[in-house]
Order: sequence, then structure tokens, then C-alpha cells
Amino acid sequence: MKRLTYKFSNSSTDYYLAYGISHLKEFVDQKNAVIITDENVFSDHKKRFKTWRVVVLQPGEEQKTQATVDSVIAQLIMMEADRKTTLIGVGGGVITDITGYVASVYMRGIKFGFIPTTLLSMVDASIGGKNGVDVGIYKNLVGTIRQPSFILHDLIFLNSLPQPEWINGFAEIIKHACIKDAAMFRELETNSLKKYQSRKVLVCKLIQRNALLKTRVVQQDEFEKGDRKLLNFGHTLGHALENQYELAHGQAISIGMTYACHISKQITGFKETERVVGVLDKYGLPTYAKFDKQKVFKALKLDKKRERDEISYVLLEKIGKGVIKTISLDQVEKIIEGL
Ligand SMILES: NC(=O)c1ccc[n+]([C@@H]2O[C@H](COP(=O)([O-])OP(=O)(O)OC[C@H]3O[C@@H](n4cnc5c(N)ncnc54)[C@H](O)[C@@H]3O)[C@@H](O)[C@H]2O)c1
Ligand SMILES: [Zn+2]
Repeated sequence: MKRLTYKFSNSSTDYYLAYGISHLKEFVDQKNAVIITDENVFSDHKKRFKTWRVVVLQPGEEQKTQATVDSVIAQLIMMEADRKTTLIGVGGGVITDITGYVASVYMRGIKFGFIPTTLLSMVDASIGGKNGVDVGIYKNLVGTIRQPSFILHDLIFLNSLPQPEWINGFAEIIKHACIKDAAMFRELETNSLKKYQSRKVLVCKLIQRNALLKTRVVQQDEFEKGDRKLLNFGHTLGHALENQYELAHGQAISIGMTYACHISKQITGFKETERVVGVLDKYGLPTYAKFDKQKVFKALKLDKKRERDEISYVLLEKIGKGVIKTISLDQVEKIIEGL
């Protein structure tokens, strides 16, 4: 068990790493707290929610909407939640994004914390303060940036995590290794998904390393003026693919990372595409996929990171060193078409 505090520009977050959810009541007043979770997490871990007031939502990205936010707010009013109430999101990224957003707007902002229950939310979604909801096809279009007061990791939740969700989480872990941590990349090359799943200590260390890596990136650039953009490695093309095809987020960004490596080769002289592809493949992620390049390119052009006819693209100089380059859309199109 490890407790650490990280400062952000105008708040700080306590991290309770490798804790148990049973410790929650030691620092959150149960009388003034409401847990928000989803049906999958709740049904697999019912006994862990005993003695807490709980709002249970339907699972799934489709639920990440303003309508769900409104229904949560209605329930908070019924429970007489007030400015002293702490909201606790116990779930994957959908739940933590909704919880952070509701807490940011309810009574102009109340305290909130997270207990991430997917690998992806432990290493990524629960960190950094971005929260919000989707509007139609526009993912995360509405939201705020506000840091949680605490994040607690209880790895017991991973016991019920379905295999595809493990793989999704590894996509973001590999992303972190590519942009910032060559030593972790080598560790991922040596190990395997099976090994991490069977060795609690290994996975626990890996999760902490990734959570802290993202935390440091966010601390240095909370409002995404520069380096935080590196976290979008694989996401530009990934989002375009995700919108067009039935792909899990991890699969989409995995293909996105593969293509970003090829673009890097031409722009930065990156030479290690095959190693990146090898690791993605090792963790069950797709790399080269056939897709309708015209259609996906059209979606890419609508990407919110577009500035006139140029696009801000995250590339690799080498493994462990991501860079942000502005490239013209024409050039991206030419490279992607040539692949
Ligand atoms: N705020 C951010 O910075 C940030 C970063 C990355 C992703 N996100 C968001 O996170 C979301 C994706 O997060 P996710 O992959 O965790 O998705 P998710 O919350 O939909 O969880 C994935 C699935 O796993 C189930 N689940 C969760 N924990 C479980 C457990 N312990 N046992 C069994 N089942 C469990 C859920 O019910 C769901 O069906 C997206 O909406 C994305 O936009 C946000
Ligand atoms: Zn992602």
C-alpha cells in the first residue's frame, strides 16, 4: 500500500495505490458520499458496496451522454446530496468520466474521487482530470477539466475483467512505452499478457508505472498546450477508424500507432516500426488492417486537432521518445495511401 500526493495547477490528488476498497471509509465520510458505478461492476462485486449509497448505471459507451448525467443529477437531488457530498466513481472510463463531469457541475462543483476498475481506467482514464460526455458521434465533446481529490487502486476488481478489456488497457500501456519509456517497452517485449495476468506483483508495478507516467505528463501540461498531446499517439487515425468501423478503442489506436510509426519513418527517420508492431501483436492487438482509406481520411480531416489544412500528429523519433509534428493533410494522405 502506497499513498502519494500529486499537485496540479490549482488542486492536488491523493493516490492510494494497491489499497483495498475497504479502506475508503477511512478517508471518506460514508454519510456524505455517493458511489456511482455500472451494473457489470456492481453485480460482480456486490459485497464491496455494502454500507454505501450507490447509483448503478447501465454499462457501455452509449450511456456516456447528457441524458445519463441528468438522471444521475435527479438521483442526487432525491438523496439530498449537497456541497458536502463526495461522489465516487467506481468503474471503467465511462463511469469515471461521467462521475467527474457530474461532480464538476452539480451545485457548481462538489468533491469527487475515483476507484478505477478496468486496466484502461487505472492507467489512463481516471488520471488527468478530463471528464465529460459524448454528443451523438462526437466523443467527449462536452466536459470540463477538474482533478479528482483521490484515486484508489484495488486490483481485486481486475479478477472479473473480461479479456478484451485487458487488451484494451495494454494498448494504452504500449502507447505510454512508445512515447516516454523505452525501458518499459523492453519489459513489455520480454513479458506477455498471460504473465502479467498470472503475476499480481508484476501487473501491480506496471499499473503504477503507467499511472505515474501519465500523471507526470499531465502535471507538466494540464491544459494540453504541448506535451500532453503526446498521449494522443495513435489516436488521430485511431479515432477516425473507431468512428467508421466496429472496433474497440484499443484495437483502433493499435492500428493508429502502427500507421503513425510508418509516418514517423518518413518524417523523423524512425527505424523501429517492426518492434512496435511486434509488441502490439504480442498483446493481441491488430496492426495492419484493411480499411477504406478515402472514408477514413475524410473522417481524419474532421479531427478536432486540425488547424487549417495542417494536422498536429504525434510521431516517434525512437522508442521512448514521442514528438509532435505539424504535417500537411496532403502529406498524411500521401503516406497513408502509399502504405
Ligand atoms: N478522461 C480521460 O482522460 C480518458 C482517457 C481515456 C479514456 N477515457 C474514456 O474512458 C472510456 C473507456 O474506458 P473503459 O475502457 O474503462 O470502458 P468502460 O467503462 O466502458 O468499461 C469497459 C467494460 O468493462 C466493464 N467493467 C468495468 N470494470 C469491470 C470489472 N472490474 N469487472 C468486470 N467488468 C468490468 C464495464 O461495465 C464495461 O462493460 C471511454 O469513454 C473513453 O472516452 C477517458
Ligand atoms: Zn485512448
